[in-house]
Amino acid sequence: MSTTSSYYFQYKGCNFVSTIYNKEHLEQLEHFEIQDTDVFVVTYPKSGTIWMQQIMSLIYSDGDPAAVQGKPALERVPWIEVPNSNFSARPSPRLNVTHLPYHLIPKALKEKKGKIIYVARNPKDVLVSSYYFHQHLAMYESPKDFPDFLEKFIHGRVEFSCWFDHIREWYAHKDEFNFLFITYEALKKDLRASIQKICNFVGRQLDDDKLDAVIEHSMFDVMKKNPMANYEGIPKKSSDGAFLRKGSIGDWKNNFTVTQSEMFDRIFQERMKDVPLEFIWDNE
Ligand code: A3P
Repeated sequence: MSTTSSYYFQYKGCNFVSTIYNKEHLEQLEHFEIQDTDVFVVTYPKSGTIWMQQIMSLIYSDGDPAAVQGKPALERVPWIEVPNSNFSARPSPRLNVTHLPYHLIPKALKEKKGKIIYVARNPKDVLVSSYYFHQHLAMYESPKDFPDFLEKFIHGRVEFSCWFDHIREWYAHKDEFNFLFITYEALKKDLRASIQKICNFVGRQLDDDKLDAVIEHSMFDVMKKNPMANYEGIPKKSSDGAFLRKGSIGDWKNNFTVTQSEMFDRIFQERMKDVPLEFIWDNE
């Protein structure tokens, strides 16, 4: 698939923003050595990555707020695809995030070393979040308008390419990994239960006080006020918008027309017909 934009280069079929990523690093990271204690949060962009960076930092610090107040999220839980992520030199346990598609992940993860937590979000909310994010962040090409961005998103002419391919490929191969699948909507609807599930998966037991602290410091309003949790320092085009924008389920309804929504639903049915996943599309 062509990218149609000079903002991106393609590596093995996936679009990367040219000013951030490079092919040499992407090539190398497929051969990273993995330790049993490594944890990788995998997301398609705008599915709650920053939220999971916060949750993981807090789980691994037993809910100590100092852990998320002294260092920015991208240093605590770095992206492995970013060239200076310094993966090999970091002490264990290494907490990571990545937007990589399945076929570009370090191969050693398939030996069931390390753990993967895949966070999915309903794609209409992903699209809307991404649309505003492209208007906000300096590193992105500004969308012409919503219909144009909708078209690009559906055809994967955005960074990390197509949402449908990302989730289909990861889900199809999940049994090759130590793998936990959770959703943004599950986090929203029952943060405590979701955090407990994550703790069980990574083998960390937190008592009620520590769990309460993890929950408190990963709430939207608390994160929004914490410059170390909300990516305040990232270069922006305008002061409107933020990494932590609305943090809700169903904002797509304020942005899609009925016709656009029906068209998207038809494509969703077709592309996801053999994927046994249910999504939550609104907050009812
Ligand atoms: P919206 O733009 O819909 O508000 P990512 O980190 O993958 O880029 O995802 C960003 C999205 O997650 C944004 O969605 C952001 O508001 C939302 N988000 C981040 N932290 C959150 C939190 N604590 N609670 C709910 N949503 C959160």
